[in-house]
Amino acid sequence: MIFDNFLGLFSTDMAIDLGTANTLVSVKDRGIIINEPSVVVVKYKKYGEQKVLAIGKQAKNMAGKIPRDMKLIRPLRDGVIADFETTEKMIRYFIEKAHKRSSLVRPRIAICIPHGITGVERRAVRDAAYSAGARDVFLVEEPMAAALGAGIPIHSSTGNMVVDIGGGTTEIGVTSLGGQIVCNSTRVGGDRFDKAIIDFVRLKYNLYIGEQTAERLKWAIGSAYPMQAQSATVKGRDGGGLLIEKNITSEDMALALAEPLREITVSIRAVLDEIPPDLAGDIIENGIILTGGGSLLRGFDLYIKKHIKLNAKLCDEPLLAVARGTAKVLQDKKLLETLSTK
Ligand SMILES: Nc1ncnc2c1ncn2[C@@H]1O[C@H](COP(=O)(O)OP(=O)(O)O)[C@@H](O)[C@H]1O
Ligand SMILES: [Mg+2]
Repeated sequence: MIFDNFLGLFSTDMAIDLGTANTLVSVKDRGIIINEPSVVVVKYKKYGEQKVLAIGKQAKNMAGKIPRDMKLIRPLRDGVIADFETTEKMIRYFIEKAHKRSSLVRPRIAICIPHGITGVERRAVRDAAYSAGARDVFLVEEPMAAALGAGIPIHSSTGNMVVDIGGGTTEIGVTSLGGQIVCNSTRVGGDRFDKAIIDFVRLKYNLYIGEQTAERLKWAIGSAYPMQAQSATVKGRDGGGLLIEKNITSEDMALALAEPLREITVSIRAVLDEIPPDLAGDIIENGIILTGGGSLLRGFDLYIKKHIKLNAKLCDEPLLAVARGTAKVLQDKKLLETLSTK
């Protein structure tokens, strides 16, 4: 027992938010030390072998510009592990980068995973962490981590609703008395917003743009709710062999994003439809707390207010909420017992 405490003192315990768009790693007393895209670039060698060329920021910078013998992989794209081998390499890379072999003791690792992943995929994540050198691995469900990270008092007897809009998925959870009452996960998030923008711009302007451009456009002038009119000039190709530029407006954005936003509201409503009626008063009172990068889309809170008829509020630094929540679980023995599975 004493020996165990001694080990605990010197090991670099890590909390990992394994997101479909971004992976964050935090270490006790140092906070979030890694925050990089969940992206890997591989190069094909003879006989179909793959060699990892870049991971994280470096890999994302190559997006849209890579030669034919290379491939950009987002191993967690839709909230499921599409590519197990690459996921494992990515997790190992981030763990090693955070650990820097600074300690001889193997770390305990808590990993937050999308709610919708299967038992086989859970095992895959866990095994990847063990094979990267973890001493103990704890898996944490995303909506609970998001709620904790957003500062929601999950142990109170009042119900709270959290909606985490990530890249590949939106996770919706209702918590009360330290547990999850209802939960839903839908494969609509920031990536779908980007795709909707690509399709809209192609149809309306005959302009072909890539995912990177669409994402930047979304950050710059995207909005979920009519707001101050803005526009941006976008370059791409016209499908007929010419390179062109067009002026895209925030009104275009709202039209493009209408469908994926509607799908998110349908999922939220499905969850509201399942909550015990006694919790309704709490949710009306507390409103919906928004976390995840997708919630940074301008006017998202206003959109929710209009279509769900509930108050909605972004938490502080939505991109960091899940990582913070996962770290809280790892640091608290009781939370670790109740909210994680091995
Ligand atoms: N300012 C912003 N406006 C709109 N979308 C944003 C903004 N910042 C980040 N995002 C989007 O948030 C998503 C990533 O959110 P994140 O919570 O990291 O996802 P995940 O947990 O799935 O990794 C991406 O689709 C990204 O484009
Ligand atoms: Mg996330």
